[in-house]
Amino acid sequence: MTRATTETPLKKRIKRHVIGRERLFFAATAPGLETICQEELKVLLPSGTPMAIVEGGVEFKGRLHDCYLANLNLRTANRLLMRIESFHAANFRELEKKLTAVPWELFLLPGTPTHIRVTARHSRLYHKDAVAGRVQTSIAFCFAQNEFSEEASPEPTVTQQIFVRLSDNRVTLSIDSSGDLLHKRGIKPCTAKAPIRETLAAAALILSGYTGTEPLVDPMCGSGTFAIEAALIARKIPPGRFRDFAFMQWPSFQPKRWQHMIQAAEKKIVRTNTPFIFASDRDDRAARELEDSVTQHDLSGIIAVSIRDFFDLSPTELTNSPGLVTLNPPFGRRLGSRRESEALFLSVCERLQKEYKGWKFVLIAPNLRLAGMVPFRSTTHLLPHGGLKVALMTGRIPDKFIS
Ligand SMILES: C[S@@+](CC[C@H](N)C(=O)[O-])C[C@H]1O[C@@H](n2cnc3c(N)ncnc32)[C@H](O)[C@@H]1O
Repeated sequence: MTRATTETPLKKRIKRHVIGRERLFFAATAPGLETICQEELKVLLPSGTPMAIVEGGVEFKGRLHDCYLANLNLRTANRLLMRIESFHAANFRELEKKLTAVPWELFLLPGTPTHIRVTARHSRLYHKDAVAGRVQTSIAFCFAQNEFSEEASPEPTVTQQIFVRLSDNRVTLSIDSSGDLLHKRGIKPCTAKAPIRETLAAAALILSGYTGTEPLVDPMCGSGTFAIEAALIARKIPPGRFRDFAFMQWPSFQPKRWQHMIQAAEKKIVRTNTPFIFASDRDDRAARELEDSVTQHDLSGIIAVSIRDFFDLSPTELTNSPGLVTLNPPFGRRLGSRRESEALFLSVCERLQKEYKGWKFVLIAPNLRLAGMVPFRSTTHLLPHGGLKVALMTGRIPDKFIS
C-alpha cells in the first residue's frame, strides 16, 4: 500500500521555484583565483553549464543540486551565493515596494536570524545601513503577514547572510549558501601562528601541477595546510566533507539528496597505508597539533608528521623519488623581523638547490623583490594572503646548476 504524501502549498512552491528551477550562482574567490575556480567548476558541473568569470569570482547557472556539489567540492572558492532577485530601485520607496514582493519564505525558515551585507556603487541608494534596514524589515514583514510554519521544523541555529549589491541603481539580492567561509574545512584547530589559507594552498598545489600520486614534503608545515590539502586531493576526499553548510538550514534543503551525494563521494575515496605526504616543523607544538588533526580525520595513512629542522632534513630520508616540496617560510610583518626572514628565505633557496634537485616546488615569498632573487627558474603569481600580497612561485628545481 502506498502512503499518500501530503505536500503543503509552500513546499510545492519551494519545489517549483527553488529546487526545480535553474538559478544563478556566484562562487566568490580571492582576486587571482577566479580562473582556477572556473576550471574546478568545469570539472564538477555538467558540460555546457553556462558560466563566466566576473569581478571577484565565477558566475554559473545551475540547480540546487549543483550548489551542494560546488560547496562540497570547490577547493579555491571563498563562498557560494545563490541569486534571489534582481530589480531596479533608485529611491527608498521603489526599494521598499520591490522588497515587499520578495518571497522570503522560499529561502528562509521562520525565525531564522539574518545578517544583511550591502555593497553599493554608482547608485542613488548608497546608504548601506538604511538599505540593510529595509531588507531586514521586508523579511520580518513577510513572516508576520503569513503563516508559514505549516510543518514543525527545528529551530534554525545558523545566521543566514543576505547579500545586497547595488550597482547602477540595480539591486541584486543573494543568499550565502556556504555559511562559514569555505577555506574552513573543519579539520584543523585555528591556533596556528601564520597559517596559509586552505584556498590559497589548494590553488598553489593546482598551479604546481600536483597530481596526488607523487610524494610531497612540507618541511615548514606549521598547521599543515599544504599537507592536508594535498592529502584531500590524493585521497579524493571532498574538501567540505568534514563541515556543515548554511544551505542545510534552508527550507529547500533535501537531506536525502545530500546524503546520496556524500555516499557517492565516499565511494570514490582512495585508501592508503603508505604515507607519501611528509609534514614537519621545528616547532613541536605545531607538529603535535597537526598530528592530532591528522589522526582525528583518518589521514595518518597518508600524512606522516615529524618534528624536524628543515636545514637538517634531506628528502632522501623520506622517499626515493622526487615529488613536490611546498615551502611557506616565516616572513616579515607576520613572523620575525624583515631582515631575519629575508636571510632565512635565501638560505631556504640554497637548501632547496642543494637537496631537492629535480623536485617540483611551491614557494611563498613575502614580496616580489625577494621572489626575484630565487636562483632557479620559476613562475610567479601575486596573490592575497592575510591582508598582504605574497608571491607564490612554482617550478622545478634543476638537476644541475650552471654557475
Ligand atoms: C608561515 S609558517 C607556515 C604556515 C603553514 N604553511 C600553515 O599553513 O600553517 C612558517 C613555519 O615555519 C616553521 N619554521 C621556521 N623555521 C624552520 C626551520 N628551520 N625548520 C622547520 N620549520 C621551521 C615555523 O615554526 C612555522 O611553523
